Amino acid sequence: MTTTLPAAAVTSLVPFTDPLRIPPLLRPRPDTSELLTVSARPVWVRLHSALPRTLVWAYEGSFPGPTIEVRRGQRLRVAWRNDLSGNYPVVAVQVPNGTPSPSDRPGREGADPIPEVAALPPWTVVHLHGGRTDGGSDGWPEDGVSPGDAQLTEYLNDQAATALWYHDHAMAITALNVMTGLAGMYLIRDPEEDSLRLPSGANEVPLIIADRNLDTDASGGLTGQLLHKVVQISADPPATLPFTGPFTTVNGVIWPYLDVEPRWYRFRVLNASNSRIYRLSLVGQNGSPVTGVAYQIGTDSGLLPAPVPVNQLTLAPAERADLLIDFSGQRGKALRLVNTLTPAPVPDVMQFRVGAFPVWDWFTLPSRTSTSFTRITHSNLPQPHGHRWVALTAPGVQSPHPEMWELHEIEDASTATEPTVTVTDDAGVTRVFERASTTFNGTLNFMIEGDAWEQWNFLNLGGPVHPMHIHLTRFQALQRHNYTVSTTTDPDGIMRVDATFSGAGTLDPNEEGWKDTIRVGPGQLVSVAGQFLGGTGRYVYHCHLLEHEDEGMMRPFVVMPAAVMALDPEASGHHHG
Ligand code: C2O
Ligand code: CU
Ligand code: CU
Repeated sequence: MTTTLPAAAVTSLVPFTDPLRIPPLLRPRPDTSELLTVSARPVWVRLHSALPRTLVWAYEGSFPGPTIEVRRGQRLRVAWRNDLSGNYPVVAVQVPNGTPSPSDRPGREGADPIPEVAALPPWTVVHLHGGRTDGGSDGWPEDGVSPGDAQLTEYLNDQAATALWYHDHAMAITALNVMTGLAGMYLIRDPEEDSLRLPSGANEVPLIIADRNLDTDASGGLTGQLLHKVVQISADPPATLPFTGPFTTVNGVIWPYLDVEPRWYRFRVLNASNSRIYRLSLVGQNGSPVTGVAYQIGTDSGLLPAPVPVNQLTLAPAERADLLIDFSGQRGKALRLVNTLTPAPVPDVMQFRVGAFPVWDWFTLPSRTSTSFTRITHSNLPQPHGHRWVALTAPGVQSPHPEMWELHEIEDASTATEPTVTVTDDAGVTRVFERASTTFNGTLNFMIEGDAWEQWNFLNLGGPVHPMHIHLTRFQALQRHNYTVSTTTDPDGIMRVDATFSGAGTLDPNEEGWKDTIRVGPGQLVSVAGQFLGGTGRYVYHCHLLEHEDEGMMRPFVVMPAAVMALDPEASGHHHG
């Protein structure tokens, strides 16, 4: 490994020492009268056999939580019980920037732990990410539950086979609570998936990837204590970068290995990191890429129409990939899965040790994986449909943090008293918008009629990549366009942004499926379309960099039956975007 000099403590952990753990499977009976109880509780685990034990908070005492598996349409009621107690299991510190980056190193760098984090009570609420769930069961961030109480939820599971995940969503502290260990996978099965006879049982493996940092003792040895160390970018007003850490865990083990047979496997890959984006590739012992063995057959919210060959797989936080890997040509080899996008000092994610002896494998890669799939474009998007516009501001322009602005279309920028964004699109059409919200508790703008189709446009005015996630719906990305952005301040001190189309960007082939989270890079306008079907109530959408979500890049929206909305005096003028 020839990257920046890793701190001694990082290299004191030898990669591929511990086997991959598989979270236990919870397969509730298809009996709606049954209530599944899932208890979140403190538990001591070992992230690596050379480490002291680590205190985590985990569903059913398993880190990550058990994989819950249901059939499509199988109604499931869950009581998420808060059995947490004791000290908050994550120490939080902020440190000044430096070279090499402090986020590549373990240890708190002499910074004092933030006392408000140390004093946090166990207050948690569970969201089923990607689920078509009624608002009352969706895990509204402010509806946290305290120890001894339970959050009662009902999941209809009336949606296509895919891998969802459940995780904490508590207001202002999601990044910390998820880091304690409160996350797990949730699989929905359906007949279309069954008909493919994909690798299953021991040959279908969840890979839940999450980076972590650990504290050190006086002599620099790793203590096992979870550490949320973030780098300051501004002292006044205080602002920090999102968390990244030097240790990559898969299913709760740092740099594990998995013994595989030389045959096809199915991996349900989830990026459960707070904020790190991975570009994953398989490499051989000598570090050269192993290509032509991996195919993606599904995205966040369902199967792709046909397998997509992937030699590099980019996954932002919350994105999932349904992957098939053929190890039959790799007998006796040790392959590494590595991160090639701004990797930690150790780029390794995990290792696959392929058995030496051939095994019989009846599976062959199908040419089609979903016949029910239709690609959505703006021309076949059902009419009428609402249009929403959301701008993601560059850090340092309005505040040291990026902000999320809902935009409201107006006639003329010059008379607007709020900041304006003028967008000239690929057809040369110019639209003028003014800022309609900046913070979570500002005016509710997005009211959506139940079952309606909508197109949401996310415009990144020049900041980091924001993986944008919308609750309730599943969507397809219509396009990713590049824009030239310029910002001026008018004589009254009001910000005027101009964004002009500068070229068609690309959607990766594996982004052309059903998704619930989409990456929006700097200067990009990403348009997605989806139907707000299968639930009503109050929901959120947000950036899935959990630190951004907690810092205000989250907003509410409401879905109500059309006939109800017609009688709601507050809804008029809101629901058509
Ligand atoms: Cu992964 Cu709002 O959630
Ligand atoms: Cu339209
Ligand atoms: Cu963000």
